[in-house]
Amino acid sequence: MAVERTLSIIKPDAVAKNAIGEIYARFEKNGLRIVAAKMMQLSQAQAEGFYAEHKERPFFNDLVGFMTSGPVMVQALEGENAIATNRELMGATDPQKADAGTIRADFAQSVEANAVHGSDSSESAAREVAFFFEDGEICSRG
Ligand code: PPS
Repeated sequence: MAVERTLSIIKPDAVAKNAIGEIYARFEKNGLRIVAAKMMQLSQAQAEGFYAEHKERPFFNDLVGFMTSGPVMVQALEGENAIATNRELMGATDPQKADAGTIRADFAQSVEANAVHGSDSSESAAREVAFFFEDGEICSRG
């Protein structure tokens, strides 16, 4: 399996619940290394830019409003099969449909306030990691 990088965001609802440490522990226990991290209050322009692919969707304004409602924790994760591993740990977008034991099943309330974001492909991972981090900010330990 290839070593990959993926972009993870702990969303405002999970930051407000003080769940950063528990979520980081799940990453680390499952072979994902945190190789870059920053806490940020996203601006409207940053949130709109990050989610630009969804701009025609009916929930776009709600999504941008939610993602700017409080601080987020943004991290690049590295490890074998990191993109799929992170998506498995996250669980389904709708927490009502997320498997037991996943981050969203344990920490999320709704499809909007769903605790975490994770890149869904190698193309989006490359774009999303570069959206938040310069190459020199990533401390690869692979
Ligand atoms: S996915 O996982 O990309 O297939 O999910 P998708 O349904 O395409 O949703 C993309 C992101 O939009 C968020 N979302 C919403 N936000 C607010 N309101 C509503 N109704 C809503 N529906 C979906 C969803 O949490 C996804 O966010 P990210 O950060 O990409 O996981």
